[in-house]
Amino acid sequence: MPSMPVGLSRDLPPKRVMRASVGGQDIVVWRASNGDIAAWDNRCPHRGMALSHGFVRGNALACLYHGWHYEQSGRCSYIPAHPDLDPPATIHTTRFGVTERDGVIWVDTTDTAKPGMLTEPLDPLRSLIAEVSEAAVEAACHSTPFEGEMPQPSGSGLYALGTIRLALLTNPLGPNRTQVTVLTSPGLSLQTRLALSRWCETLRRNAEATGTGGA
Ligand code: FES
Repeated sequence: MPSMPVGLSRDLPPKRVMRASVGGQDIVVWRASNGDIAAWDNRCPHRGMALSHGFVRGNALACLYHGWHYEQSGRCSYIPAHPDLDPPATIHTTRFGVTERDGVIWVDTTDTAKPGMLTEPLDPLRSLIAEVSEAAVEAACHSTPFEGEMPQPSGSGLYALGTIRLALLTNPLGPNRTQVTVLTSPGLSLQTRLALSRWCETLRRNAEATGTGGA
């Protein structure tokens, strides 16, 4: 499976944790105090608690349940009930490939993360969830005008909205649930970005109104 976009970098500041999904795999993505990012199977190796409920302590992720700490390599570094113990190296999380590019977090569950190739520099606009299939989102994009202009496919997954360039990065979360990460031409005014953000809401409503639009 190729790397998939799971959210915007700016939505995951240092010391924050978020839950993501790629190909049905439940994932925790977190950013350490030093700004480094990690993506793991969302299960604590101890008793299986979702690590996305955990919290960042310095450059480690602490599980909410019994407080075990996992450093960025995934190795367990501290067990509160045995504070003098150096945890064995065999206790570690399942790590996935993660990288950031174009302001987007990309995760790969099978290999080192290789972000989708955008053929030109774009700025992240927003990320949203639509309760429809990936195909329905793409169909709605072709039929949702922005300020009177219908989006025109311009190759490599890009659309043209008049002079504005737009990329819709989709990550299917289920048959009828899609994460959409939207990027636009750099340097747009705040007013235009707000208008585009509202257009994203209209796109979602249109996609959800037209049904599941099976893949
Ligand atoms: S389940 Fe995570 S520390 Fe026990």
